[in-house]
Amino acid sequence: MVAEQLAAEFGIAGKLDFATAGKGLVKAVVSLDGMTGEVVLQGAQVTRWDPAGKRPVIFMSPNSVFAPGTAIRGGVPLIFPWFGPHRTAKEAPQHGFARTAPWRLTGVEQGAGGLALTFALAFDDISSPFWPEPYRAAYTVTFGRALSMSLSVQNRAKQPVVFEEALHTYFAVSDIAKVGVSGLAGRTYIDKTDGMRRKTQQEPLVILAKETDSLYLDTPSSRAIEDPDWGRRIVIDSSGAASTVVWNPWAEKGAAMRDLGDPAWRGMICVENGNAADNEVRLAADSEHTMSAQISVDAIG
Ligand code: BG6
Repeated sequence: MVAEQLAAEFGIAGKLDFATAGKGLVKAVVSLDGMTGEVVLQGAQVTRWDPAGKRPVIFMSPNSVFAPGTAIRGGVPLIFPWFGPHRTAKEAPQHGFARTAPWRLTGVEQGAGGLALTFALAFDDISSPFWPEPYRAAYTVTFGRALSMSLSVQNRAKQPVVFEEALHTYFAVSDIAKVGVSGLAGRTYIDKTDGMRRKTQQEPLVILAKETDSLYLDTPSSRAIEDPDWGRRIVIDSSGAASTVVWNPWAEKGAAMRDLGDPAWRGMICVENGNAADNEVRLAADSEHTMSAQISVDAIG
């Protein structure tokens, strides 16, 4: 649907509007008490959350490409039904098919938590030879004082299905070398930069000093990004999401990525919540799984 049609069906004067984004994409724009949020319908991808009177929390690459079928570098790509490379099919797209799929906006609701937009995607909209399961997914994004995201996946098959998923959130930071991620101490992680070796997080804060691509397993429900230079702590509370991925490509790879580049790579960190690797979801026939994350910001002295 084009922006005008969506505005006619769902628009709320002064609070919810629709606009084109880049070449041929459409986004919802939410404005509420000084807060601005945006979601691009392709991938149901949150691309902006600027809480009232605060710095942007979500990173968007200045070099990102907004075009049909292209993954957007920044915001909150929705990863489903596999994470990273497909386990058996090299030709399958990285990170599944949901992030570039045409999600449908199905509902808008105003409540105490803010303004909620619900999107749907199902087997009839998009499927893949690499994961041909009959599924139905619903994704609700609530923009308010916090940013809340909740993905529910229904298995419509007569047998169990297995999938991976993630809210691949890019956070804006003062300087990647000066921030730390708390809440992961003592956890096992798969180091994708070191031959998938399994290691244990010893230090209380994950501090990045080189390319980092770590998939933490069985993580607690609360993690935070400590950013003293910007005087803030970004808190990520989740449920139904057992894995946490910490990623930054660092100087060489970051500069070589055409949709990121130098110095943009320095201003971001991905702290992703989901269920991947050992934490993949096994969903019984006719049942549903939900994962949610809530992001909020605290001032620190
Ligand atoms: C992370 C993966 O989640 O996403 C990394 O762990 C990957 O391995 C990164 O490089 C970015 O992926 P993409 O497909 O968006 O370039």
